[in-house]
Amino acid sequence: MNKSDQETKDEIVLQNWLAQLNLEQKVGLIVGRGMDIPGLLETEDEIRVAGQAASTLEIPELGIPSIILADGPAGLRIAPKRVGTDATFYCTAFPVATLLASTWDKELVKEIGAVYGKEAKEYGVDIVLAPGMNIHRNPLAGRNFEYYSEDPYLSGHIAAAMVKGIQAQGVGTSIKHFVANNSETNRSMLDTVVSERALREIYLRGFEIAVKEAQPRTVMSAYNKINGTYASESYYLLENILRLDWGFKGAVMTDWFGGKDPIAQMIAGNDWLMPGEPKLRKQLIEAVESGALQEEILDQNVERILRVIISSPSYHKYPYSNQPDLKQHALVARKAAAEGAILLKNEKGTLPLSNSKMRIAAFGVGSYDFIAGGTGSGDVNKAYTISLVEGLNNASIAIDTDLQESYESYITNEKAKLPEKAFFFELPPPIPEMTLDLIAIQAIAAKNDIALLTIGRNSGEFQDRQVEDDFNLRTAELALIQSVSEVFRGLGKRVVVLLNIGNVIELMSWRDCADAILLPWQGGQEAGNALTDVLIGKVNPSGKLPTSFPQRYADVPSAKSFPGKVIPDGETHELGGVMTSHEMEITFDEDIWVGYRHYLSKAIPTAYPFGFGLSYTSFSYQDLIVDSDQKEGGLKVNVTIQNTGDKAGKEVVQLYIAAPLGGKLEKPLRELKAFAKTKLLQPQESETLTFLLQDMDLASFDTQQPAWIIEGGQYSIQICASSQDVRLEKKLMEEAKVVERVPKALTQKM
Ligand code: BGC
Repeated sequence: MNKSDQETKDEIVLQNWLAQLNLEQKVGLIVGRGMDIPGLLETEDEIRVAGQAASTLEIPELGIPSIILADGPAGLRIAPKRVGTDATFYCTAFPVATLLASTWDKELVKEIGAVYGKEAKEYGVDIVLAPGMNIHRNPLAGRNFEYYSEDPYLSGHIAAAMVKGIQAQGVGTSIKHFVANNSETNRSMLDTVVSERALREIYLRGFEIAVKEAQPRTVMSAYNKINGTYASESYYLLENILRLDWGFKGAVMTDWFGGKDPIAQMIAGNDWLMPGEPKLRKQLIEAVESGALQEEILDQNVERILRVIISSPSYHKYPYSNQPDLKQHALVARKAAAEGAILLKNEKGTLPLSNSKMRIAAFGVGSYDFIAGGTGSGDVNKAYTISLVEGLNNASIAIDTDLQESYESYITNEKAKLPEKAFFFELPPPIPEMTLDLIAIQAIAAKNDIALLTIGRNSGEFQDRQVEDDFNLRTAELALIQSVSEVFRGLGKRVVVLLNIGNVIELMSWRDCADAILLPWQGGQEAGNALTDVLIGKVNPSGKLPTSFPQRYADVPSAKSFPGKVIPDGETHELGGVMTSHEMEITFDEDIWVGYRHYLSKAIPTAYPFGFGLSYTSFSYQDLIVDSDQKEGGLKVNVTIQNTGDKAGKEVVQLYIAAPLGGKLEKPLRELKAFAKTKLLQPQESETLTFLLQDMDLASFDTQQPAWIIEGGQYSIQICASSQDVRLEKKLMEEAKVVERVPKALTQKM
């Protein structure tokens, strides 16, 4: 059957379903069937996919199947073991989202999406609750690792690539959390107070790009309120902006147990209530019966849900195998992990390790106990995680085994002391750094050629990070870096620091102690192999920062407002531990000045700027040509990149627009509007990259009109190696114009 015949047939089936559903069944479809974690599962029925985040009601008499929803952003989160079988159901832990954005490679992210989609399909999952795409507003946000970037353009395009890759396999996605959900503290009782310009230009923009480019099958609304209204209860957000303005065709689901008023959610166009609770069904039925909710509204919600169901593998009776090709998926995960590693510092050609016979001393608990990804719903039950030392061993590179043994026995002892997890998603406390005195380090330095030292960080859902002992290094970590540096460098030997982190940390206080710093982020289950590929130069690092590394926390534009203020005499939900919530408000008073927009425009130096990353080779940027593009309208920009070094490598090229300053709207010094990555260029080889710019790329949001406008004056197209490294530029004059009017401004109450 061809595509349009299938669509016609599906439409007939769907209309037939709609005509026959009774109220109870409609409400049954809207409210999910519970989450498969202890205490939250409603049904006694057999769970099709153990560890699923939710499922929907099956209506066998109409042929409506139950569909399965499962997390999450770095791979599928399902239970690895099931009662009654010895089979295992491990999933591939892909690199975390921040690493994927660090590749700046849409094709690669699409490839990750494709294997992820296949894996989900082979495990019987219909919708993956990914990608997460909230903006990195503040480095302490506990879930930043699940998100891409501080920049909406990069976030939007990487998310679109992920959605396209997954959905091409027939599995749906859920871009999340829509919107302005940029912290975890009291997240379900948090009111985000934000200006319309910041919402439009920073927080909504990435979602807009992903929706328009990739049409995800679902969107997950955020827990928080925005200017007084829960995201899941905001008609303006879900119907006017998402559907009317952007043309979103799918269904919206709540975040798990999100929002307060199911009737308001239905009216707002938040179709699905997840993971579902029996009381919600009762409430909705009573609301229809009393006239508080029109049944036509429910019909619309149900229709959208049915459209998602009819496009699902379950409806098409896909015969899933429960045996995805985990070996092949691990290879793709490894490739991506290496492509997203960022070389931050490399003095005296310390890296790549020149000689495979080098004797390596691996310091830091993190070198032996690698972190594949964060915790919470973004976790993946993987079969293994390759650590740095395992990666080196796999490449037949010897490391100091005495040091290895002492670390390994120390880690085993420390892990045995950890208390049982108090709740399912708990973030385990970090294992304290092992202390080594100078004499011990001297003995190790005497018999090794180089020191590798790993700093690890983990974080996850429900809590944000702290400045002390997390953003800033712990005293024992600092002491270890300082003493290893003093001893090794005293003997003329080099020190390389590796950052196995999911989120930004402080570097200024110690970076002079290192000859090289490599940021492999949390690279998924193949992290150690991928990192080794980069360390030995099998892969030339080509990742660049998707988020700025400030010099100190106080420099972060939202440092003062994060994570918000508890409302005196506000409500409290006593759920215990990190689940307890207090009513809270957070004001995004930095407005549009997030990340590099702030650092550049206010001339605040960073430790490493947005877009920065070194390579083992060098590149020249030449021949910037700007033409009008006859086919698409707008501008066509060409630039030629040449590998001028002696090793093959790839370069991420960034196009920023610098708008005229001093107009009606205050503008950042420059803003990212396009990016591309070269192919692997051999020494002396070059490639011409092409970017297309539209009017919208020059526009800013004018709340008064309300409209996206271009202010008249001189604009500059800047081709950059990072947000601070302009290599070529071309100026052009633009006349003032309105690019796009929006129907109505967001009012204070949405
Ligand atoms: C998270 C979502 C996740 C859902 C299901 C919520 O706590 O915020 O991102 O998809 O749980 O696990």
